[in-house]
Amino acid sequence: MKKSKISTLAVLTSGGDAPGMNAAIRSVTRFALGHGLKVFGVTKGYSGLLEGAFTPLLASSVANIIQRGGTILKTDRCPAFFKKENRKKAVNILHSRYIDGLVVIGGDGSFAGAHLLEKETGFPVIGIPGTIDNDIAGTDYTIGFDTAVNTAIEAIDRIRDTASSHDRIFLVEVMGRNSGFIATQTGIGGGAETIIVPGDHRTIQDICKTIEKGISRGKSSSIIIVAEGPKPGMSSKMARDLEKRGYSAKVCILGHTQRGGVPTATDRYYASLMGAAAVEALMKGQSAAMIGVQNGKVVLVHYAKVFGIKKQIDPKIGCLAAFLAN
Ligand code: ADP
Ligand code: F6P
Repeated sequence: MKKSKISTLAVLTSGGDAPGMNAAIRSVTRFALGHGLKVFGVTKGYSGLLEGAFTPLLASSVANIIQRGGTILKTDRCPAFFKKENRKKAVNILHSRYIDGLVVIGGDGSFAGAHLLEKETGFPVIGIPGTIDNDIAGTDYTIGFDTAVNTAIEAIDRIRDTASSHDRIFLVEVMGRNSGFIATQTGIGGGAETIIVPGDHRTIQDICKTIEKGISRGKSSSIIIVAEGPKPGMSSKMARDLEKRGYSAKVCILGHTQRGGVPTATDRYYASLMGAAAVEALMKGQSAAMIGVQNGKVVLVHYAKVFGIKKQIDPKIGCLAAFLAN
């Protein structure tokens, strides 16, 4: 490889944590050290950046973490970073430590902050998509999604046992905020009778009809997956609406269980690949971009192909879910 454009980098995790972030931190650290760079870990995302919370990372600092959920660097949501003067302050702090490149592991919010920081000051930043929601355009996959879906499917398998023993309807609410990727993949993999994603135009009457259809062909229990939408609790409201129409439904909100736990092989693998690719990009002088996975390949995706683009669920997959539940 040609001479590196940077000599010292910092890495941080920001926004909601996601299983596999540690594998990415490990990869960033070891790949950078292996190429003669110095590495600092920033504690608690952008908050730590503004507080100058830097710790030198050695190869040993990231030992024994690949299998751990969460993030050893801790994470945060930092309202102060929305202010331009604070982003400038962050860059001054980075310069004062002779740091000349930054890797941000987080979701699209974290990338928005990173992008502004770079645009306003020219400081090189590369993003690594780390969020269980898988809602970032330009990448087929985000770190943590696979683990979250596996956790949710395991929960559904358990719920199905009790649902079928009692002949009950269950509403299982999954995370993902305004995106329906966790709901869709979990629903298909868990064999759900119905999957409701944000923006779904079906009414409560439509859902009752689906339940009735199941009953008419001998189904005594139903699992309905509900994407949480902007605020958790959507499934409880839906249960009340079903109750008014004579259907009793149990509610199970999976919540933060989906954010924790041992990362799957897929999450560890892609996080490792993306960590190294982020460092490589900074060394080559590339920035204003994130590392993504497209068709199984790790690629550099410019932020112009990320922001303002809503990642859509393939409508065919939505139809398939309904078809398979019949
Ligand atoms: P995620 O990165 O998982 O999408 P958030 O949307 O909560 O999570 O964003 C994480 C943090 O990124 C925010 O708390 C804030 O510090 C920073 N951030 C988000 N959006 C912006 C923005 N438009 N400008 C500056 N910083 C931002
Ligand atoms: O973005 C990840 C995510 O887990 C969403 O799926 C969820 O809506 C949100 O974060 C929850 O955030 P918090 O941990 O702050 O409650």
